[in-house]
Amino acid sequence: MKTVLSGLKPTGEMTIGNYLGAMKHWPLNQGDNRSIFFVPNTHALTARQDPAELKKRTLDLVAWLLAVGVDPDKSIILVQSMVPAHAELFWILDNFVTMGELHRMTQFKDKTKKTSSEGQLVGFFNYPVLMAADILLYDTNEVPVGDDQAQHVELARNIATRFNNIYGETFILPKAVVPSHGARVKRLDDPRYKMSKSDRPDSYVALGENAESVVKKFKRAVTDSDTTIIYDPKNKPAIANLIEIYAGFADVDIAKVEKIFAAKGYGEFKQALGELVAQKLATLQLEFEKYRSNEEKLMSIIEQGNTRASQIANKKLAEVKIKVGLL
Ligand code: TYM
Repeated sequence: MKTVLSGLKPTGEMTIGNYLGAMKHWPLNQGDNRSIFFVPNTHALTARQDPAELKKRTLDLVAWLLAVGVDPDKSIILVQSMVPAHAELFWILDNFVTMGELHRMTQFKDKTKKTSSEGQLVGFFNYPVLMAADILLYDTNEVPVGDDQAQHVELARNIATRFNNIYGETFILPKAVVPSHGARVKRLDDPRYKMSKSDRPDSYVALGENAESVVKKFKRAVTDSDTTIIYDPKNKPAIANLIEIYAGFADVDIAKVEKIFAAKGYGEFKQALGELVAQKLATLQLEFEKYRSNEEKLMSIIEQGNTRASQIANKKLAEVKIKVGLL
C-alpha cells in the first residue's frame, strides 16, 4: 500500500489554482492508499499573521478538505502544530541541508530577486526543510502537488537520500505527482504568472466566491490576439489557461474542450466557463458550509486524525533520534 500525503497552507483564501493543481486529486483512491492530508499551519508563520485569522483559516481549510471529498474514515486529516513530531524532525533535518541548496529554491529566489536576502526571515528561507519533515515522517511515496511545490519535494528526496546514506535505510524517497493539466493555473489578468491568493482579487477566483463575481471575473479575463479556441500554451497562453480551467472543472480532456468551442468566439467561451466554474463552486461551497458550521464535529475529526498521525510520526521520530544519537 502506498502512502500519499499533501497539505494546504492557511495563508489566504483558497483559489481554483489550489483546487485544480492539488485538492481535486486528493480524494482519489483514498481507500486503496494510506492517505494523509493536513493543514501546515506552522508554515504560515513565515509571514506575519493575525492570530485569530490564522486559527479561523486553519479550521476553514479542514472544512475545505472535507468539502472536496477527503473522507476522515479513509484518510488521516491533521493539523501540523498539533503533532509536534513535525517541528522536532524539522530541526534534525535542518542539519542535513546546505545554505546553497535552500538558496536555489525558486520560491526563495523569486522573493529575493529585487531585495537582498538579508531582510528575509530564516523561517521563510528554510521552510522547505519543514516541508521535508512533513513528508518524511510518514514514509510518504507520493506527494500530489501543483508545479510550484515539485522542487520542494525533490529537496525532501535529496535530504532523505543523504540521511539514508549516513545512517542506513530510514526514509522512503518521496516523489511529487503533478497533474498533466492544471498544475500551474495562471492569473486571469496576466497568464505569465501563477494564480495566487496573495495577488489582486481580479487575478484569481477564490473557492468561496459567489456566482456573480465568478462569471464577471472570467468575462474580464484577458485573451490572446486571434479568435480561435485552440490549446497552444506557447503562442496563446491566456486561452490555454482558460481551456485548462474548463477541462479541470468539466472533467474532460483538452481536445474535448477545443471541440465543444470549435466554432465559438471568446465571449461565448468565457461566459460558459464562468457559469461552469460558478456552478461547481456553489456545490463545493454547500459542502464547505455543512462542515464549517459544526466546529465541534470539525475538532473531533482533527483530534481523531492527529492521534492516528502521531502514532506514525512518533515512531519515525524515535527511530531517527536513536540513529543520530539523541537520548
Ligand atoms: P500552498 O498552500 O501554497 O498550495 C497548496 C497546493 O496548491 C497548489 N497550487 C497550485 N496549483 C496549480 N496552480 C496554481 N496556481 C496553484 N497555486 C497553488 C500547490 O502546488 C500546492 O500543492 N508548502 C506548501 C504546503 C505544504 C506541503 C507540505 C505540501 C507544507 N508541507 C508537505 C505537500 C507536502 C504550500 O505552501 O502549498
